[in-house]
Amino acid sequence: MLKRISALILAGATALTMAGCSSSSGGSGGSSGGGADDGKLVMGFAQVGAESGWRTANTKDIQESAKAAGIELKFSDAQQKQENQIKAIRSYIQQKVDVIAFSPVVESGWDTVLKEAQNAKIPVILTDRAVDSKDTSLYKTFLGSDFVEEGKKAGQWLVDQYKDSKDDVNIVQLEGTTGSAPANDRKAGFQQVISADPKFKIIASQSGDFTRAKGKEVMEAFLKSNPKIDVLYAHNDDMGLGAIEAIEGAGKVPGKDIKIITVDAVHDGMQALADGKINFIVECSPLLGTQLMDLAKKVVKGEQVPQRVVTEETTFTQEQAKEALPNRKY
Ligand code: AHR
Repeated sequence: MLKRISALILAGATALTMAGCSSSSGGSGGSSGGGADDGKLVMGFAQVGAESGWRTANTKDIQESAKAAGIELKFSDAQQKQENQIKAIRSYIQQKVDVIAFSPVVESGWDTVLKEAQNAKIPVILTDRAVDSKDTSLYKTFLGSDFVEEGKKAGQWLVDQYKDSKDDVNIVQLEGTTGSAPANDRKAGFQQVISADPKFKIIASQSGDFTRAKGKEVMEAFLKSNPKIDVLYAHNDDMGLGAIEAIEGAGKVPGKDIKIITVDAVHDGMQALADGKINFIVECSPLLGTQLMDLAKKVVKGEQVPQRVVTEETTFTQEQAKEALPNRKY
């Protein structure tokens, strides 16, 4: 709708000045429009699911930020299934929303639907997770964390912890959703740093799908088949928290018998860190809503935006978690 109104204003202005120049009101050449009747910018957002505390915080932030920015949000939850996200994107194209934003469940397999959005002249913004499309013109920008960097920070903490030890360090890894950008990149970044010293050995690595239940289940299996586990690296807090239940169930002390590194820094993870059950957390911020709405307004107006916007993040030790917890927003 916004684009239709802008197009009408533009047409009027052109007629008045008799100037034949053209301008893009739609960010990607304009479209027939079809968003909100009240002239609000309409965003279709295809969310991954509700797999973790991080995701819940991210959804809440996006919904609140859209409201604050005066953007009408059409929201769908794909329940961690790519086919559901593709369906949602197609439905947004049919509804002629002004802009589509989504956080891709997995990295591959998006070219066809992104081409459909491009043909319909609807700009697309990637948020949180990346796609591996070679054609970067299929989306306007990608807003989110540097997951490789997160993996490196996790690896660096481990290297520093064991710098004075010559013994082997047996590591088990709980990976995120198979084929997702955070799982691929956090694994790669971690591996890159620890591989400098052969004493670090990843003795088991499996997906826990970013959920607490799966984290617990896979950790139980790890504990059964590996008598000596020194370190758990979990690609998110939720899997780490599930694993803590498994470790305690096996009669071991999380944070002591098995050192634990996770990613996210959501409230429950931070509490476990402050309680000494987790040893180190690499932050991944879910608060992407305000930046996303700003970028959406810009791309719809046809303004230039950076191809990549990286989220600022930190890390937390147990002491830092105790200090940060009272003011933590999620
Ligand atoms: O894409 C971000 C990741 O997805 C978060 O680290 C994880 O908790 C979530 O499920």
